[in-house]
Amino acid sequence: MKEEEPAAREPRPEGFAVWMTGLPGSGKSTLAKLLEAELGERFGRYVEVLDGDEVRKGLSRDLGLSKGDREEHARRVSYVAKVLARNGVVAVVALISPYRSSRAEAREMIGAGRFVEVFVKAPLSVCEQRDPKGLYAKARRGEINNMTGIQDPYEAPEAPDLTVDTTTGGPEASLEGLVMGLRRLGKL
Ligand SMILES: Nc1ncnc2c1ncn2[C@@H]1O[C@H](COP(=O)(O)OP(=O)(O)OP(=O)(O)O)[C@@H](O)[C@H]1O
Ligand SMILES: [Mg+2]
Repeated sequence: MKEEEPAAREPRPEGFAVWMTGLPGSGKSTLAKLLEAELGERFGRYVEVLDGDEVRKGLSRDLGLSKGDREEHARRVSYVAKVLARNGVVAVVALISPYRSSRAEAREMIGAGRFVEVFVKAPLSVCEQRDPKGLYAKARRGEINNMTGIQDPYEAPEAPDLTVDTTTGGPEASLEGLVMGLRRLGKL
């Protein structure tokens, strides 16, 4: 019996993860959506956004906001980003991921060559003024007690691959800086 030739597969571009970390309200979700559109339309890339809030509705719905649960949440997102990235997809992660150790674990799991840590940078005072979900106000009123930046820690990256300061211009300007950074790193 003659063996069938395996079907030829289309070559794919290298996938990678864009891991956006930052305080609540710093601009991660806003930039993730803009980056998704830009990478699709201008660069013809397949993109998946892994937004912490969305993942918490499904894969991480059993998790809370303790240190251990936040770490586990980041671990699950890392795994999904890893399998996407190794299949040619750009995984755009929008996750507070407040602990340095979690982000180091993500880098290791996904692979340093496929991991771009982006510090979405805005001071607490600006994030609190923006307060897009009203959570800072709730935390100040004592209605929630595990708000990152107020009661819970945020460990800013010490050596991120890219930093996007979202206080110096609007989302479109930040997107431009992010895309330039990714090009500089040879990812686009
Ligand atoms: N340069 C900028 N980049 C991104 N967002 C900006 C910028 N300037 C102002 N903003 C505003 O800041 C807010 C950021 O909210 P966003 O939901 O993206 O934050 P987040 O980091 O995803 O927060 P969370 O961790 O709570 O989900 C939005 O209202 C956005 O319009
Ligand atoms: Mg968000």
